Amino acid sequence: MTYDLKLARLGVYEARAPRYTSYPTAVQFTADVGAGFTEAALAALPVDKPVSVYIHIPFCERLCWFCACRTQGTKTASPVAAYLDHVIAEIGLVAQHLPKGIMASRVHWGGGTPTILTPSQIERLTDALDQVIPRTKDAEFSVEIDPTLVSQAKVDALVAAGMNRASIGVQDFEQKVQTAIGREQSFETTKECVDMLRSANVRSLNMDILYGLPHQTETSVMDTINKVQALSPDRIALYGYAHVPWMAKRQQLIDETALPDGETRHDLFQAMAAKLETGGYEAIGIDHFAKPTDSMAIATTKGQLRRNFQGYTTDDMDTLIGLGASSISKYPTGFTQNQAKSSDYARNIKDKSLATYRGIETSHEDRLIARVIEMIMCDFAVDYPTLVAEFGDDLSCVSQAVPPLQKDFGDIIEFSETGFEIVQHKRSVARLVAKAFDQYIDDSARFSAVS
Ligand SMILES: C[S@@+](CC[C@H](N)C(=O)[O-])C[C@H]1O[C@@H](n2cnc3c(N)ncnc32)[C@H](O)[C@@H]1O
Ligand code: SF4
Repeated sequence: MTYDLKLARLGVYEARAPRYTSYPTAVQFTADVGAGFTEAALAALPVDKPVSVYIHIPFCERLCWFCACRTQGTKTASPVAAYLDHVIAEIGLVAQHLPKGIMASRVHWGGGTPTILTPSQIERLTDALDQVIPRTKDAEFSVEIDPTLVSQAKVDALVAAGMNRASIGVQDFEQKVQTAIGREQSFETTKECVDMLRSANVRSLNMDILYGLPHQTETSVMDTINKVQALSPDRIALYGYAHVPWMAKRQQLIDETALPDGETRHDLFQAMAAKLETGGYEAIGIDHFAKPTDSMAIATTKGQLRRNFQGYTTDDMDTLIGLGASSISKYPTGFTQNQAKSSDYARNIKDKSLATYRGIETSHEDRLIARVIEMIMCDFAVDYPTLVAEFGDDLSCVSQAVPPLQKDFGDIIEFSETGFEIVQHKRSVARLVAKAFDQYIDDSARFSAVS
């Protein structure tokens, strides 16, 4: 047992904090920001700067009990076909406001399960987007793939559409854990998917695995890591299972008595991380690992790692246009979110209106704090000269948060004239340190465990 008094004293095992994939976080979005804001933000985008695009496909054939993603189950093709028509119509509506000539350097399809689309639907969606926001020559196109809902024909269609990165959901290979989380997926099925992608020349593969699931033990998670390493993905996302049954109702099917406690979660993560690092993966931020040759590991070494709604990324674009139900967009002036329910989203699009239903206009101070939080989550260090170069001399909102940090974290953060650096327990405390700068934080809000 690696019980650590210092972390216990800081309350890390029990602590709750946002994951900071944006700042301000989505909890602060309000209906004051609507379609008019999105129209103006799109119209103001500079033509010479590429954007990123996210398309959400909120459908799955299976509904895994552990999953907190915005998604709905369907066994028939018609809701997916109707939804696709709406996304294509939304792309047309965006085109009415976007200056002509803007290109996309990143396109990501997430979900839900984008591989629920048929090959011809994949082609239609790609063509529709390319007509409005064509991709740059070296654009990255990544897709989230469920190995139980993919075929050679779908992989071929995605590769023909330009997919050059894929992210595969694994979670855990142990049978007892899979049964407890309502997600059955054999190693063989996962390997077939990996082989299909590699033989189609998709060279960059990510795998998602989870710690903190029911019945996981250090022995069982080592077996999952061994199997994942045998498949040799370029990147691994090792997420802490977020048990949020008040939001994700299907998690009520999970037996809470089988969930590991805070300290055991922490030990599971440490054991899995150590195994990945001895196996040749480099640690990235709080929960990612990558081969040293992978662009995310290279960006981290150069201090160029970034964080957005998809988590860690090498994407440094100022603008992310989110399409589809519940998608969040980021503009230089703020964030917007589309209607979350597909029926509400469809109604807006049929009315020929952008589907924005909430958001936040960000101030200069919000953007400065956002950068501080991003530095903490990505580099575990904040460099004041970099902030001054990007935001000007006035860092008072940053310096105000430093004295309480010195009091609480004095022995694990090193402070200097030019900034500060978390030097111990980086991954365990980063979210708590970031939270110290959050000017909106409401401690009564419920977030997932930090460790
Ligand atoms: C859209 S899903 C993955 C794509 C595909 N639908 C699949 O299941 O393979 C994205 C990822 O979110 C993560 N995720 C979902 N629910 C989670 C939760 N409650 N806590 C932590 N991570 C979660 C999982 O690792 C999952 O692979
Ligand atoms: S994990 Fe994937 S397949 Fe399972 S419900 Fe979530 S999005 Fe759907």
